[in-house]
Amino acid sequence: MREQLELIKQNALAALDAAQTPAALEELRVKLLGKKGELTAVLKMMGKLSPEERPVMGQMANAVRSEIEAKLEQCKASIGARALEAKLASEAIDVTIPGDTVELGHQHPMNMVLQEIKDIFVGMGYTVVDGPEVELADYNFTRLNIEQGHPARDRSDTFYFDDQDSVLLRTQTSPMQIRFMEEHKPPLCMLAPGRVFRKDEADATHSPMFHQIEGLVVAENITMGDLKGALITIMNKIYGHDAQVRFRPHHFPFTEPSCEMDMQCHKCHGTGEIDGNVCSTCHGEGWIELLGAGMVHPDVLRSCGIDPEKYSGFAFGIGLERTAMGRLKITDLRLIFDNDVRFLSQF
Ligand code: DAH
Repeated sequence: MREQLELIKQNALAALDAAQTPAALEELRVKLLGKKGELTAVLKMMGKLSPEERPVMGQMANAVRSEIEAKLEQCKASIGARALEAKLASEAIDVTIPGDTVELGHQHPMNMVLQEIKDIFVGMGYTVVDGPEVELADYNFTRLNIEQGHPARDRSDTFYFDDQDSVLLRTQTSPMQIRFMEEHKPPLCMLAPGRVFRKDEADATHSPMFHQIEGLVVAENITMGDLKGALITIMNKIYGHDAQVRFRPHHFPFTEPSCEMDMQCHKCHGTGEIDGNVCSTCHGEGWIELLGAGMVHPDVLRSCGIDPEKYSGFAFGIGLERTAMGRLKITDLRLIFDNDVRFLSQF
């Protein structure tokens, strides 16, 4: 039995030395020390020994077991260390190699100008709100005093979704006036920027999709002077104090009186021509229309449950693209939508 134990030990130590992987070690552990292992088999035969021999052999068997266990731990550690070394070598990173540069973009120029305008209005106490682009004809037209049969409701101008012409892509942000007044009572101060849609051919100043910024102020004693003051303030902030703007009388069904505000053309500086040719940015006008505005019609206030005897208000709808064109000296509106990186990266 002594020889048997010695042989088990020799073989075990040699086998452990030869093992290369954690899996091979584990297999050996089971084979050597497990319940069905060689050592256990020897121990089971102890019963056949004489009482004097038994403790001696028992001690020896335990010593062999400890030695094998110690060797096993040692082999485990060295295989682990070798594996780690190999992993580190294969995954070595050369931090000195130049990396791929990730080019960072920036806000679209139109959004930059929108942000600027929102900041100015928020500074004047306006609340910025959002509304649906798919709108009811009721809000887009009827509630704004634009009756059935009005040319603005024509199918050649408006994108309708249904045969009854009751659901459409909003043609203006003005329906937000109604939506806001339904939810809020005066005094109120609202700004609603967003996309609007019309069946327009694209040219230097037109696009079938563009952005408007609707504004609405309703309180006691609001006058046309407040409207002019607010609009001139904002234009001076956007364009600087030498900004050339003019107000023209106009008609909108939902304001009375109504006006439009123009900005002097930034390309031809109001002359309407460039080198003897008609200026393509303002079509020879010398001015670019930026917005429509006016005093909120009493009928509109009344339909929202606001007493026109007590309250008055002004409203305006600014064309964002045209405002951005003037602000950033862009001469063709289509450049704003083309998304040509050579154009966009200039801002
Ligand atoms: N919604 C008008 C348009 O698209 C612009 C406008 C005019 C807005 C007068 C207003 C306003 O708020 O009071 O042409």
